[in-house]
Amino acid sequence: MDYSELFSADTHNFMRSPVRDIFKKVDLSKIYSFAGGYPHPSTFPTDRLASMVETVRQKYGDKILQYGATQGTNELQEALSKRYDVPADNIQITTSSQQGIDVTARVLVDPGDVVLVADPSYLGAIQSFKSYRADIVGLDLTPSFEASKQRRATIQALVDAGKKIKFFYTVPDFQNPSGETLTLAQRSELVALAREFGFLILEDCPYRELRYEGQPQTTIYTLAPERTIHLGSFSKVFAPGLRLGWMIAAPEILDKVYVCKQALDLCPPVLDQYLAAEWLSSGELDRNLEKTRELYRGKRDLMISMLEKYMPEGVSWTHPEGGLFLFLTLPEHIDTVALYDKALAAGVAYVAGSFFYANGTHRNTMRLSYSFIDDEKIEGGIRILASLIR
Ligand SMILES: Cc1ncc(COP(=O)(O)O)c(C=O)c1O
Repeated sequence: MDYSELFSADTHNFMRSPVRDIFKKVDLSKIYSFAGGYPHPSTFPTDRLASMVETVRQKYGDKILQYGATQGTNELQEALSKRYDVPADNIQITTSSQQGIDVTARVLVDPGDVVLVADPSYLGAIQSFKSYRADIVGLDLTPSFEASKQRRATIQALVDAGKKIKFFYTVPDFQNPSGETLTLAQRSELVALAREFGFLILEDCPYRELRYEGQPQTTIYTLAPERTIHLGSFSKVFAPGLRLGWMIAAPEILDKVYVCKQALDLCPPVLDQYLAAEWLSSGELDRNLEKTRELYRGKRDLMISMLEKYMPEGVSWTHPEGGLFLFLTLPEHIDTVALYDKALAAGVAYVAGSFFYANGTHRNTMRLSYSFIDDEKIEGGIRILASLIR
């Protein structure tokens, strides 16, 4: 049957993720995969899961399997409120940060509205904004006077053209894909632009707790709580399979999200929330984080040392202070989209950097993740990749 007449106009704007398609095509355990941003399974409390479930069963009984409140369980809201020093009323539990992104777009974006994104940006966010028919405009966040002038001029031109800018989306800590962190000056500039031009900031922070060196930067939410929607996630500090995250914002914004979520999924996963509240309040999260940071710090350092050892002249990479990714810039003539099939045939997977740019530019870049691959495979994979680039 031909269904094409029946699909909604929104479906024409759905964008398939080349990243997730890579996972469909290959068995990641059989190759050198630098492609996915999967956490390393040794960071999961798999062995302790049964006893954790038993603890919450004893504490809360049947409630752990019942429908829950749309805004989330009190226990998890309170635990997050304590950890991040924000009132529980400003916290909405989400079915992970991807839902936080999507629900924000859903409550703010009408077709044709502008969503500003840092170039490059997380693909899953771009997919969501496109599905609501947003006009996505990428901004270069280079911290120079010229680039800053350009940013302001781009925004002014959009306003002059009668466009409505709804929000600016950014991953300020250990960004996916670049691994870079915005300085306080960069954060302050975004806040100043948001205040001047009347838009909100969607601050997506799934990697914020994965800092391996240096000092944490002030969140954008702290700088401008009235116009920031801050997203957190348990995916990288507990387990992504739980699909659990949170949103911090003004109660007026959260009220719209609350009503929207009633139609979306009624409530976030309840058993998962009790487990997460226990994970936080028992101190397990912090104890586990220490080990997780140590593991990833070692992997990052190993990856960088292998890049230094094998990569030819003309290849450069970011040096992230945390997170799961490195971003490589290759000589101009190398097209990483074109190179991809050859790399896969040689047993190495990466994600082409141009997928993360609003206009598909920067075809000489690639994202490498060091979190999931075992240490023994990092050298082999980088050696093959370097031989293909040479
Ligand atoms: C920047 C960013 N935001 C959001 C997500 C979605 O994560 P989750 O929905 O598991 O919290 C990811 C996943 O990798 C990400 O990199």
